[in-house]
Amino acid sequence: MKVSALDLKRQYDGIREEINKAVLEVIASQSFVLGPFVESFERDVANYCKTKHAIGVSSGTDALLLALMACGIKNGDEVITTPFTFFATAGSIARLGAIPVFVDIDPSTYNIDVHKIARVINKKTKAILPVHLYGQCADMNAILEVAQAHGLKVIEDAAQAIGAVYKGNPAGTLGHIGCFSFYPTKNLGGYGDGGLMTTNDDHLAEFLKILRVHGSKPKYYHSYIGINGRLDAIQAAILSVKLKYLDGWSRKRGELAAYYSENLKGLPVRLPKIEPYNTHIFHQYVIATPQRDAMMKYLEQQGIETAIYYPVSLHLQKCFEYLGYKKGDLPESEKASNEVLALPVYPEITQNELDYVIGHIRNFFSRQ
Ligand SMILES: Cc1ncc(COP(=O)(O)O)c(C=O)c1O
Repeated sequence: MKVSALDLKRQYDGIREEINKAVLEVIASQSFVLGPFVESFERDVANYCKTKHAIGVSSGTDALLLALMACGIKNGDEVITTPFTFFATAGSIARLGAIPVFVDIDPSTYNIDVHKIARVINKKTKAILPVHLYGQCADMNAILEVAQAHGLKVIEDAAQAIGAVYKGNPAGTLGHIGCFSFYPTKNLGGYGDGGLMTTNDDHLAEFLKILRVHGSKPKYYHSYIGINGRLDAIQAAILSVKLKYLDGWSRKRGELAAYYSENLKGLPVRLPKIEPYNTHIFHQYVIATPQRDAMMKYLEQQGIETAIYYPVSLHLQKCFEYLGYKKGDLPESEKASNEVLALPVYPEITQNELDYVIGHIRNFFSRQ
């Protein structure tokens, strides 16, 4: 049997008519960039996230970049973040000439260890950029408390966490700006690149909207240097269709995760921990074991596709050598990068496939 890490064709099969109709409507309108389809989607997401503003952009990466720009992050500023995330989190900080300051993770959730943040704050620190990794929120109250005490901005990287809830609050709505990605593999994925920022601050919202169109308002009058960060109408129309299904898909992911956890209990693997105050949307279901590489190879031989998010902690990436980190500086993140493995978890996976994966993980350990 072959089990893919993700099969988006199955999702499309279920919503084909609606998606095709939505795409054709955009083509008929010949309005392709920003415009009414994007505005309608932005209203839908603002409602969904219970936030005042939602601003569609070209990708999750550009959402982060624009959020940092709108918060005034510039050359030499320090931004505290996690080293255990997709590159874009720290890449966006560095692209502005600012310095990513990495704080190690809590090994039970893989999110930034909030107890280690205060000790790296200094005069240059301007913001904290936590990531809600795999679909579970970082401990936002603790982050907001330390940020408030030091006058720092908080930008949430909620690229993997749309629909996740922290103490009753939707992911991406607790800090100054929340950043989302609609990369096709995300829980809410477009048919190309896309992203969005949420905020409850009117001034920030206005600034973000200006920055996403090269810093101009009105058109061709540039008070700021912005970027081309616009969202396409076709993506917005597709995402509007998919948004209606998102909660159902997230519930299903939760059920699949619970089934994995129930049936992998007792094996020498660390299972995902859900903090009692969090609703996890399981963008990824990630287990961890020192035997990760051998297990991944064995599963591959059985036709099971798994993935490593992420194999290299960002403080050890070649491009960040200039920051001066060395191996051993952030041990939990380094350990996680050697041990984590994401199993297939998507709403359309079949019971047979799920049992096949579980059976072979069990086989792997019984052969030891
Ligand atoms: C945690 C995280 N941050 C940022 C991004 C960047 O998003 P995008 O690929 O839409 O630019 C991603 C996803 O790719 C992500 O997983």
